[in-house]
Amino acid sequence: MIFDVGGEKINVMIGENILNSFDKGKKYFIIYQNSLSNELDKVSSNLMDYDIYEAPDGEKAKDVDVALDIIKKMVEKGYTRRDAIISLGGGTISDLSGFVASIYMRGIDLINIPTTLLSMVDASIGGKNGVNFRGIKNVIGTFYQPHMIINDILFLKTLSKEEILNGMGEVIKYSIIMDKDLYNYIVNNKEEILNLNKDNLIFVIESSIKDKMKIVVNDVKETNGLRAVLNFGHTIGHAIESGSEFKIKHGFAISYGMACETQIGINEGIINEDIYYAIKNVLSLYKIEVKLNDIDINKALESIEKDKKRLNNKKIMIPLPISLGEFKIFTMDLDVIKKGFLKCLN
Ligand SMILES: NC(=O)c1ccc[n+]([C@@H]2O[C@H](COP(=O)([O-])OP(=O)(O)OC[C@H]3O[C@@H](n4cnc5c(N)ncnc54)[C@H](O)[C@@H]3O)[C@@H](O)[C@H]2O)c1
Repeated sequence: MIFDVGGEKINVMIGENILNSFDKGKKYFIIYQNSLSNELDKVSSNLMDYDIYEAPDGEKAKDVDVALDIIKKMVEKGYTRRDAIISLGGGTISDLSGFVASIYMRGIDLINIPTTLLSMVDASIGGKNGVNFRGIKNVIGTFYQPHMIINDILFLKTLSKEEILNGMGEVIKYSIIMDKDLYNYIVNNKEEILNLNKDNLIFVIESSIKDKMKIVVNDVKETNGLRAVLNFGHTIGHAIESGSEFKIKHGFAISYGMACETQIGINEGIINEDIYYAIKNVLSLYKIEVKLNDIDINKALESIEKDKKRLNNKKIMIPLPISLGEFKIFTMDLDVIKKGFLKCLN
């Protein structure tokens, strides 16, 4: 699939064993997640000229010092703007690599090879990147589109069930907010999806990418508010992540957030109850549930207070489904969200 994002063409491929579409004349700097060292040759064996950089696992990779270390190595190895970076790993690696690619010599080609379901359906697409600085998540980052994204589902075979469900949280989000067909598909094909059946996975990944891109192409740099819809469930979701010291994974946290934010919308009389049952139905089908025993409520409330979708006047923009597959962006008082969140916890 080719997408035009603000005049830039992005080639997105999805399939199995498709790691052979590289330009043999280029030199590639591969940034890979250390847990993927056994998979590295699946990529490097298709390249003539390359260097490798092993990034630490998890959020530790998304550090401005790691980004600077990569730049140092690329300078030493003589990389120029004619060369390219390959990102091989989950969302932490695409965030790190995207940031480096955007600033190295004012921009060098970037190929994303996402290896988690979450990064295939979300983090590796859309052109947002971010690294952490002094413990503040994503406080440094840019908008920079990858030139190619290769979604090879062979990587998903080694992923834990929890990580698959983590990615399904975002898939469910697209289905509820903008894609009724995808909702029906994931409800009717649960076994096949969780058994990582090739055709079912490809359908789910392709639908999710098309859904996200529909929004991204119309709001490339988050300037007209449309991208806010991608944050359905994220205000409460981020609160849960923050209140649990990030022990609760993103996809699980936003799943809880989708149900809770919808409940708040129902209590406010702005959306219909049916949609809540649609959300609960799919979450219980996939057994996506969170245990909130150890949550720091003050930290969670502070996260709601600081949500990036807040407006100046103690109000917040909140996207909600008005029916299955259709959304509207509402403006609500922050206090209503906070009270609604506390009600969800009881
Ligand atoms: N820029 C964006 O638009 C965007 C969107 C969503 C999320 N994100 C970011 O993405 C990150 C989360 O992404 P993630 O969930 O992929 O996390 P991650 O990169 O930490 O990967 C999750 C875990 O899966 C392991 N892993 C990766 N590929 C594997 C494979 N093929 N087999 C076995 N294990 C594998 C990793 O080692 C890691 O332990 C967060 O930092 C988040 O901020 C960014």
